[in-house]
Amino acid sequence: MASKLTTVFCKNLFAGKVAVVTGGGTGIGKAISKELAELGCRVVIASRKLSTLEEAAKELNKYVTDKDQVKSSVVYPFQCNIRHEDQVEALMDYTVQQHGRIDYLVNNGGGQFMSPLAYMKTKGWNAVIDTNLNGTYYCLKHAYHKWMKENGGSIVNIIVDMLTGFPGMAHTGAARAAVENMSKSLAVEWASDGVRINNIAPGVIYSPTAAANYKSDDVFDMYLENIPARRVGYPEEISGAVCFLLSPAASYTTGVTVAIDGAWGLYKKNYEVPDHEGKWPLGVHSDYVKSKL
Ligand code: ADE
Repeated sequence: MASKLTTVFCKNLFAGKVAVVTGGGTGIGKAISKELAELGCRVVIASRKLSTLEEAAKELNKYVTDKDQVKSSVVYPFQCNIRHEDQVEALMDYTVQQHGRIDYLVNNGGGQFMSPLAYMKTKGWNAVIDTNLNGTYYCLKHAYHKWMKENGGSIVNIIVDMLTGFPGMAHTGAARAAVENMSKSLAVEWASDGVRINNIAPGVIYSPTAAANYKSDDVFDMYLENIPARRVGYPEEISGAVCFLLSPAASYTTGVTVAIDGAWGLYKKNYEVPDHEGKWPLGVHSDYVKSKL
């Protein structure tokens, strides 16, 4: 269903531009695609499931048509598993050949599951690293070679709020921290090509897709007491920031990470450390410690 929230940016901001949004058919990615399209951008949405992409494209195209937006804004589905480099290369080839350019890349496609690291299967670890880190690397590299190296561009990576670690989901914390660091390197390596690259670190963002992924709404509720804003965030609160970072308003901004999290990252305690009397190594002042037990 179309959200009541709409963009705060001017209607033609991205007229004539072309964006690739991975994971653009659901949740945060869909909200980003919608706002870009609303601002006149042609958007190629890419993920593994073509039927989901086609449904999203249909809905978003109807939304922009009904809103009488600029004619250039159309959303196109493209099936692509970002874990496979050849498919990512095909995505970037398709975008340049069919739509003429790649002004913007939004690396949003990714995923994770909850598990303490010690009990994670290596296959699960590898899958999360493969999607979130390697997939992002493939997208960056091929968007660069197919278009941005010669023509410049702007990139936003959607990571997670893992600046104090990510206990319970260490695989995605590790992958996203790597993406954040890679962006800092690329902000320097690609500055001379006119390419900007920034990250957004969402906090706890509710979307029906995320709720289905974690198989409950309670996952969101359990975070509330640790979020100073005392509510979850919504995908539209991420998309506005993406549009800002892609736009000329951010033309001097590169290599940074913007947390959008209601101050969760400054405050969070979302992992219960079990009692462990006697297990933590005693220090040199162990008499004091003992007297406290
Ligand atoms: N979104 C989540 N996982 C993905 C994948 N492997 N490829 C593209 N989009 C994705």
